[in-house]
Amino acid sequence: MDIMVDLFSDTGTKPSKEMRQFMAEAEVGDEQLGEDPTVNRLCSMAADLLGKEEAVYLPSGLMANQISYAVHCQPGDEIIMDKTAHPVHYEGGATAVIAGASIRTVPGEHGIFSLTDLVQAVRKTEYHNPLTRVVSVEQTSNLGGGRVWPLERIEEVTKYAREKGLKTHMDGARLLNAVIASGVPARTYGQYFDSIWFDLSKGLGAPVGSVLAGSAEFIEEARFWKQRLGGAMRQAGIIAAGGVYALENNVERLADDHLHARKLAEGISELAGLEIELDNVETNIVLFKVKDNLTEEFANLLLEKGVRVSSLAGYLRAVTHLDVGQKDIDFALEKITETAGEIFK
Ligand SMILES: Cc1ncc(COP(=O)(O)O)c(C=O)c1O
Repeated sequence: MDIMVDLFSDTGTKPSKEMRQFMAEAEVGDEQLGEDPTVNRLCSMAADLLGKEEAVYLPSGLMANQISYAVHCQPGDEIIMDKTAHPVHYEGGATAVIAGASIRTVPGEHGIFSLTDLVQAVRKTEYHNPLTRVVSVEQTSNLGGGRVWPLERIEEVTKYAREKGLKTHMDGARLLNAVIASGVPARTYGQYFDSIWFDLSKGLGAPVGSVLAGSAEFIEEARFWKQRLGGAMRQAGIIAAGGVYALENNVERLADDHLHARKLAEGISELAGLEIELDNVETNIVLFKVKDNLTEEFANLLLEKGVRVSSLAGYLRAVTHLDVGQKDIDFALEKITETAGEIFK
């Protein structure tokens, strides 16, 4: 059976015809020498959006996290983040390899930790301990089901971190989903973080890259790391143009993805055998559980009917994005209903 509706991830979005046209016509130059006008344009758009002095274009979001940690840390330092955070599970242990830092996880809820969690995790400065150096926040929280960190929580946590002399980092892979869902401007989030980035290759629909922003001094050091890791490119304007197009055309429409996720979640909440926390669905991610440990069986049956979801951390995850329309959501819900009916007769 062909995949008719792909809810596996928002990373699966394909550049539209218009985006491809825009990319094909992009002005390019040697990006490594800072001479690619399209990359430079994308970086100034992102710096402006995030309220930062400068930004650097990177091939991936993973590299944005890892370069930030490498700039902020010395080997042996420690970074605090939620137990569900992306670098803990999906970055191949890169934090240990690149920054030489260790991660101390805290037990937040839906990927969002509290001031108390943070206070308990920050180490005393004495020679037995690793030095706590960075507090890292994931907006939106992926394994937390796309939950948005409330601004008040960010204020609380980063105020304490700064009082303790720690650096603050936002993994904003889906930051613009949070911006659209909360109505809080990206630059408002930006003011609380020494380093902050967002992905162009997820819900925004561009094929490649992320943009990392911070002070001029931070970005200067980030450029060294980009070069060191082989992330500096040449005529990268071709791919950066996808990002420029996405920022100009695909941000406001993220609201549609959130609406689609909500409809899907509401449909799922009515089905016997499936469990979902509706309050958890704030953006474009829908996490649900299948009773009796039948998660894999459910996902496989659904795939046979043409709907692909992913299975992670004991949940099934459906992610809405710009290649999924209302009809696709209706189709997916029909197939999910059929599957639940077959398994839980
Ligand atoms: C929260 C989060 N951080 C970082 C990343 C890494 O981004 P990329 O796939 O662009 O390297 C992802 C990707 O799924 C993510 O969900």
